[in-house]
Amino acid sequence: MTILVTGCAGFIGSNYVHFGASETTELIINLDALTYAGNLANVASFDDPTRHVFVRGNIGDRQLVNRLLAEYEPRAIVNFAAESHVDRSIHGPDDFIQTNVVGTFNLLESARAHWLELSEHKKALFRFLHVSTDEVYGTLRPTDAAFTEKNPYAPNSPYSATKAASDHLVRAWFHTYGLPVLTTNCSNNYGPFQFPEKLIPLIIYNALHGRPLPIYGDGQQVRDWLYVEDHCRAINLVLAAGKPGETYNIGGRNEMSNLDVVHTVCSILDKLRPLGTGRTYLDQITFVKDRPGHDRRYAIDASKIERELGWRPRETFQSGIRKTVQWYLDHQSWVESVASGAYRKWSDLQYGVMSD
Ligand code: NAD
Ligand code: DAU
Repeated sequence: MTILVTGCAGFIGSNYVHFGASETTELIINLDALTYAGNLANVASFDDPTRHVFVRGNIGDRQLVNRLLAEYEPRAIVNFAAESHVDRSIHGPDDFIQTNVVGTFNLLESARAHWLELSEHKKALFRFLHVSTDEVYGTLRPTDAAFTEKNPYAPNSPYSATKAASDHLVRAWFHTYGLPVLTTNCSNNYGPFQFPEKLIPLIIYNALHGRPLPIYGDGQQVRDWLYVEDHCRAINLVLAAGKPGETYNIGGRNEMSNLDVVHTVCSILDKLRPLGTGRTYLDQITFVKDRPGHDRRYAIDASKIERELGWRPRETFQSGIRKTVQWYLDHQSWVESVASGAYRKWSDLQYGVMSD
């Protein structure tokens, strides 16, 4: 069995490869453009060619994707590839439109053309799983109920608007063409291999380098944190047993303010990498200008996937964050190569320079 997975040199995709490797014997075709967020070191330990084939390329390149689909005949496509960082989308939305909207559209069209040519049996089994976010639902007030799959879409950032657009395209390809699609909307992930532009790895990196720990606004924005492996497990369950055309919310039932998250990380670092007498990483916390259009609160109601597919997160925030901080301490060379940009030099040497 073969599966085409896009964006597997990024954070969640690479965790999916590692996680999948322990769960199945399937061949993963990993299609990734290796933007700034893609790092082949994330999947370097998974170098068995009968299990993992890496292809550098863009999800919007129909010729390439058509060729891969014809050559490998995957049973499914899982689409992780995206521009994923909200702050970057505010500074420069163009890439978000190109990859998240136009790229997803092209990938859907390639998938549809391939699916139409399959035998009736293979057609019935084929799946297109689109990995999306809770940010498409917009923001919640403190007493609002958590997002269910029935919440209307109300994206507030260029990032979430492009993810919402891609979700709508995926939905339309089911209703109009019958392509067997599944969409997952997940809350904030954390864990190994997350690019240190996102809150948790950035805080760990800055703390260890004696730099300020930037908290946007008052730090009381709430996110619903999920350990990345629990997200990967949910994706596999949806792929195996989800109903085509349906969407599934995934979240850890773990709402925390940003300030509480940063306090937790600092107190773990204080134990694992003490600074010395009377000093704490908490002293590095610095309140900075807020993110424009900053969503105040996200919270996921995951009852549907729990009830219908029996999914439950295995990690608590306490267990997951401890593992995560330990992972970053144990993988300083990975962090340094990302921070210095050295990982890109190797990819460009190996695969040729591509524009982001
Ligand atoms: P990431 O930025 O770490 O990785 C994205 C990967 O996609 C990179 O390897 C990059 O090289 C690749 N990519 C980007 N554009 C591409 C293109 N045009 N063609 C092929 N590859 C391309 O992102 P992530 O945090 O791992 O997120 C993965 C997916 O999960 C995204 O769709 C994101 O919207 C969604 N998501 C993320 C979170 C989270 O907390 N990180 C939560 C919910 C949903
Ligand atoms: O909710 C799911 C989403 O979670 C995913 O769809 C996105 O791809 C992913 O990046 C993440 O988006 P956020 O904007 O919530 O993640 P980020 O790590 O950038 O920020 C988390 C919170 O921390 C947010 O409220 C902004 C705040 N923050 C972030 C950074 C980088 C700070 O206060 N300081 C910072 O330096």
